[in-house]
Amino acid sequence: MKEMRTQVGIVGAGPAGLMLGHLLHLAGIDSIIIENRAQEYVIERVRAGVLEQGTVDLLIKSGVGARLEREGLLHDGIYFNVFGNRRRIDMASLTGRRITVYGQNEVVKDLIAARNTTGRPLRFEVSEVSVHDLESEQPKIRFAENDDRYEIRCDFIAGCDGFHGICRDSIPSKHLHIYERNYPFGWLGILANATPSSPELVYSLHERGFALFSMRSSNVTRLYLQCEPNEDISLWSDDRIWSELLTRLQSDDGWKPNVGPIMQKGVTGMRSFVSEPMRFGRMFLAGDAAHIVPPTGAKGLNLAMADIWRLSRAFAGYYESGCQDLLDHYSENCLRRVWRAQQFSWWMTSLLHRPATGNPFDSRRQRAELEYVTSSRAAMTSMSENYVGLPIEECASGG
Ligand code: PHB
Repeated sequence: MKEMRTQVGIVGAGPAGLMLGHLLHLAGIDSIIIENRAQEYVIERVRAGVLEQGTVDLLIKSGVGARLEREGLLHDGIYFNVFGNRRRIDMASLTGRRITVYGQNEVVKDLIAARNTTGRPLRFEVSEVSVHDLESEQPKIRFAENDDRYEIRCDFIAGCDGFHGICRDSIPSKHLHIYERNYPFGWLGILANATPSSPELVYSLHERGFALFSMRSSNVTRLYLQCEPNEDISLWSDDRIWSELLTRLQSDDGWKPNVGPIMQKGVTGMRSFVSEPMRFGRMFLAGDAAHIVPPTGAKGLNLAMADIWRLSRAFAGYYESGCQDLLDHYSENCLRRVWRAQQFSWWMTSLLHRPATGNPFDSRRQRAELEYVTSSRAAMTSMSENYVGLPIEECASGG
């Protein structure tokens, strides 16, 4: 067994793990990041695309926002297509904040590039990752690479290894509270080579179900359809996908998405999940390792960034002055934002998906709510405030 030593051992090189490594580097704190997937996989897998203003500010202030500032698409509003009637919600004028469309995989690319310039370790394709002695002063990460086995002795471990990662599962279950909700539908998502026909996102509810129009760049459109949770993608030819998307998205004013070759397609399940607390001994969980939201509110990546900001401040406080206060309050401070985002994501999901109950009462009630949310200034402001996201505390004031 080869031994290594670091201050913070980071499991997972998704946006959370990479951003943590970056912020720690800026604070002069040493870290080792390990990831069991290949670098190409982490970069290529298409995920979320909506960044809150707080996330954008954090990326820019920490010096990894140059390409984001050049290539990110700033959006002032979104559309709701309510059974064919398309209405715009001007989030910027209601809240003074905007969202930016920039793919999560682009954020990951920028963070990997930043990490590589620091020379600090970032190792992909490691296997047999496990964490040990979490309640001791020196927790350890073990992993294998090629034919060698390694042990990293750490002051702390950050579990940034996603929902299916090993870190959360290494906490004895009697120390965890799990809150979970599954939804009776999934999203079939595609990436198409087509010029976006609207400069802003369109969330649509049609009798046949939910659909979403989004984008990645001036020539790539990203679209989603509500489907069964375990929908068989092989039953969906490109023609069938486009026909269903056009039916659900086109509006009475003549708007519809542009059609083009489909470059990627896949089905994602929808779930709400929180594991509390986000700490066990000297291991801290961040991002999807601790919580999952359904994608309707576009909150997943933003929540992960808010966790990471807090965690980096807490480690900086500890190494600067030995103060453990922020570490001790990390979980409860994160969970306040997490639960707000859970509530909002659940609400957006219920508002916009065809109810599974088949009870006409639910459909009429939902329609009334959609009318309200797209016409009352108070309701639109509340929706927008949640959608654009709360400022990441401290970060927003330059701390
Ligand atoms: C996306 O562009 O992938 C996207 C946008 C908004 C959502 C979810 C996903 O709510």
